[in-house]
Amino acid sequence: MLTCQIDDICGFIANSRRFSKSHVGFESLTLPGEIMGLLDGKVALVTGAAVGLGNAFARALAAEGAALAVCDVRPEISELVDELTVPVFARQADVSRSGDVQHFVEASLQRFGAIDVLVNNAGSWALSLPDDPIDKSLSDYEKLVGTNLRGLFLFGRAVMPGMIERGTGEIINISTDHVQTCGTPFELSHDDAPGCAWANEPPRTTGGDEAMDLYDASKWGINGLTLAWSQALAEYGIRVNALCMGATDSHMLRSFFNFQPTAEDVAGWMKAADIARLMIDLLREGPEGRTGENIGIAMGHPIVLPPSRPSPYVILGESVY
Ligand SMILES: NC(=O)c1ccc[n+]([C@@H]2O[C@H](COP(=O)([O-])OP(=O)(O)OC[C@H]3O[C@@H](n4cnc5c(N)ncnc54)[C@H](O)[C@@H]3O)[C@@H](O)[C@H]2O)c1
Repeated sequence: MLTCQIDDICGFIANSRRFSKSHVGFESLTLPGEIMGLLDGKVALVTGAAVGLGNAFARALAAEGAALAVCDVRPEISELVDELTVPVFARQADVSRSGDVQHFVEASLQRFGAIDVLVNNAGSWALSLPDDPIDKSLSDYEKLVGTNLRGLFLFGRAVMPGMIERGTGEIINISTDHVQTCGTPFELSHDDAPGCAWANEPPRTTGGDEAMDLYDASKWGINGLTLAWSQALAEYGIRVNALCMGATDSHMLRSFFNFQPTAEDVAGWMKAADIARLMIDLLREGPEGRTGENIGIAMGHPIVLPPSRPSPYVILGESVY
């Protein structure tokens, strides 16, 4: 019987440490003194915004002038109301519960009238193996698929009608490099990233080793929603993209390391604020920008938007199905 042991955790940690030494540093995407206000008058909804990447996304959106609707299971979510200078509507909500999602979106619309940007960020993880005891497997499934996929689906469904009615909108799904990273079969060239740590790597997704089947399944499921939504919503001026980042400093990542990462680990990780600036760059593309893309953001690689490319499911305009 396979067991979810320390070796599995070590495997994942080794994977996230691989590129620490060859990390090439981050490019600043926002010049000092740059005029802010890309999102003045807009409303952004961020799920799972109490800590980690979601918190950084919320702060970056607010810095661009957006009013915020933010939710989380953690009560600290309310702290953003006092910390930010933009209007913030914050509530505790569990994204996997349809009632919570419906109430939160309705209340957000009552407060602000519209939602222009949806950042589907809330996520959770657990080690899981195919032959775990079924009770553990079911519990992990409910938690991981419930939050990472069902929650994202529920928020998409709840926010889309308003976006369709207004003929505009941005949906950003937060995925993982387990499903798309620099070096996948559709991004073979590293010429644009000198010193890229992936240069001699075979093209592949990273996966979460053998001990994250449910986390990975929940994130692969996001591919289906991102692709189908981008196709169905394009005619309404709504873009749908996914950010597929590698190891990024957060509460979740630190928990992999029992909250005792080495300084070298931390130095190699990407920073949430840099990923958030990339998200703002994605929004800056506007309605004519890319849609339906999994945007790979790899450790050891500059944190910049890669050139727009076809959806991973479409090669030269022909569906691979
Ligand atoms: N940090 C990384 O290295 C990394 C890498 C790839 C992808 N991601 C993804 O980025 C997203 C954010 O991850 P993070 O690293 O910031 O994690 P985190 O644990 O630091 O933050 C996640 C936030 O989501 C909230 N949350 C969890 N379950 C929820 C639920 N059911 N309803 C509402 N809120 C809930 C948590 O309370 C927390 O505030 C996740 O989707 C994660 O899978 C993270």
